[in-house]
Amino acid sequence: MGTMTQTSESQHRPRSLSGIQATSDSLHLGNYIGALQQFVEQQETHDAFFFIANMHAITVEQDPVELRERTLRTAAQFIASGLDPEKSTIFIQSHVPQTTQLGWVLECTASLGEAQRMTQFKDKAAKNEHISLGLLTYPALMAADILLYQANVVPVGEDQRQHLELTRNLAGRFNQRYGQTFTVPEPGILKQTAKIYDLQDPGAKMSKSAANPAGRIDVLDEPKALTKKFKSAVTDNDTVIAYDPETKPGVSNLLTIYSSFSGEPIESIVAQFEGKMYGHLKVALAELAVESLTPVRERTHELLDDPAELERILHAGADRAEAIARRTIEDVYARVGFLSR
Ligand code: TRP
Repeated sequence: MGTMTQTSESQHRPRSLSGIQATSDSLHLGNYIGALQQFVEQQETHDAFFFIANMHAITVEQDPVELRERTLRTAAQFIASGLDPEKSTIFIQSHVPQTTQLGWVLECTASLGEAQRMTQFKDKAAKNEHISLGLLTYPALMAADILLYQANVVPVGEDQRQHLELTRNLAGRFNQRYGQTFTVPEPGILKQTAKIYDLQDPGAKMSKSAANPAGRIDVLDEPKALTKKFKSAVTDNDTVIAYDPETKPGVSNLLTIYSSFSGEPIESIVAQFEGKMYGHLKVALAELAVESLTPVRERTHELLDDPAELERILHAGADRAEAIARRTIEDVYARVGFLSR
């Protein structure tokens, strides 16, 4: 179908690749604005690859039924948010077996010290009672995700910068030792302006593990829940609607969200609300959020109600991804001295 066009048109574009873990029922607004909307833009300019990282998910304990469900839900939300399977290659990480094949080679390329220095490993190791070996080797698997497809740019949040640095080092080290094999990817750190904070605790990033769920907006929230959460958002002590993340983090966060939904610059939103109260902003923002997210929620449920269509898309994505992965792994295996079968 779209496959021919996709390959011929996008071949000379830089390749962009990113993944999101399948660890929640709904993406939150931070994922949606901070990542997905930028992925959607990239599919117009890049040869785009986006996948659901279900293999990284099991570095900490997951319920199998839940993991399966969440993998599909995440894929459905990718598509409902505007990722077009005709333009982007959308797939599930575990559908490409070369991921672990390359992962192993890169585990043997990285050092123990490098892995132990990762701040995400240290944080998660401190939080979990059972520290799986996979939690330690996580960045080698992530490097495999990236290098397998010879990605030029990897759009991720600031929290993944260190993993990307390690990926670049591993690519360089391998190339040095065995000859030019991997593209060394550029970090495409996602726009800071799109950083979304917790509505109840605007000092903290919006996240799935927030202490108070009222602080998190989920893409799949029903209109009533959305409205309630925006109306009860924590604001600041004075009453002036102005953008100043330092002294007015609550209101500034609402303005950032408003701007992401409406596409207007923050200054013009501030001008519109001059002399008005926080309540006005919250109500207007709630309406805007309902208007923007309702089609995404409805499309997600439509896709989940017809898993055959979703599975067809993911199957086609895995085929495209694997075709590239196979070429890379053949080259890698030959270079490290593995005999061919
Ligand atoms: N570690 C990333 C995260 O938690 C997810 C991820 C896995 C990823 N593999 C990747 C992101 C490859 C970019 C590229 O956000």
